Amino acid sequence: MADFDITIAGEVNLDLILYGLDEAIPLNREILASNFEMTLGSSSAILAHNLAVLGRRVGFVTLCGSDPMGAIAMERLAESGADLSRCAKGAENTKTGVTILLSHGRSRRILTYPGIMFDMTVADLDVDYLASAQHFHLSSLFLQKGLHAGLPGLFAELKRRGLTLSLDTNDDPDDRWDGVLEQLLPYLDVLLPNDDEVRRIAKRDSIEEALDVLSARVPLIAVKCGSRGALVQEGSRRFAVPGVSVEPVDTIGAGDSFNAGFLAAWLRGATIEQCAQAGNITGALSTQNQGGTEAFRDPRLMEEFLREHPLPFPVAPARRK
Ligand SMILES: Nc1ncnc2c1ncn2[C@@H]1O[C@H](COP(=O)(O)OP(=O)(O)OP(=O)(O)O)[C@@H](O)[C@H]1O
Ligand SMILES: [Mg+2]
Repeated sequence: MADFDITIAGEVNLDLILYGLDEAIPLNREILASNFEMTLGSSSAILAHNLAVLGRRVGFVTLCGSDPMGAIAMERLAESGADLSRCAKGAENTKTGVTILLSHGRSRRILTYPGIMFDMTVADLDVDYLASAQHFHLSSLFLQKGLHAGLPGLFAELKRRGLTLSLDTNDDPDDRWDGVLEQLLPYLDVLLPNDDEVRRIAKRDSIEEALDVLSARVPLIAVKCGSRGALVQEGSRRFAVPGVSVEPVDTIGAGDSFNAGFLAAWLRGATIEQCAQAGNITGALSTQNQGGTEAFRDPRLMEEFLREHPLPFPVAPARRK
């Protein structure tokens, strides 16, 4: 039996979120935010955290800086119960990445300093550790610049060892949507883009056209469509799964939280409809508190929400440290 349900290699950083700011921010003035939150950020780490809280056995590998920000982020992640035994810390004076989010209600600005994020290469990864799982997931492809050269080889090897593979590219800061992505698509079992990303990946104007193109290359694609829920393409079958109606606190990390619910259900052999429903539930749950993990760090909020919107699999709260 595999040691883990899922292994994830990726970035870790904190999100510093400022709330209540107008979209138009004047220069050279003191602007006051109405609220502030410092929380575990980064797509890879949020997914690892929330999957572990949902009771999955998660092995997470990252390279964090030697600064206090890295230590805080790793501490938060450790509380989830994810295994961090293969995570590495950079040399003295290396900095962990940080994301500053300016929340303007429905829209937001996302400013990321990558720090040591680009330094982790495939040569730094223990392939046996990554392979000791049923499934491997990669998030934030375009931020994992150090991994790019070795990724096709790693995916081929993990596939050869019987793992299933999933990818959430997230945004491409260079807006090119090419390079290693093309080489990775043929290895994927699941692609988890949002509605904007799927069009950019396929270089098509509509989600429907994008899915027509990509369905020939990836067997299962779940497109995240905000409050509308998800649009799923499984082979030639396409269907919408409506979202859960909620009043969001913020939608930061909802995509990563969708991935957590979707993959947690998928790893337990749920139907694809149930996977998308689970993703919609955990995505909506994430919006009920700040950032991508705060709702999952509040057992009472989580329990109440999941009582009203039951997941198609049991959640094991005892896994939290
Ligand atoms: N306002 C909302 N109401 C209900 N559910 C929501 C809302 N916003 C997001 N969700 C849920 O979370 C999922 C993911 O959200 P979204 O489409 O914003 O992903 P994303 O753009 O990838 O997010 P991220 O910025 O975290 O990467 C949605 O598919 C939906 O299930
Ligand atoms: Mg996303």
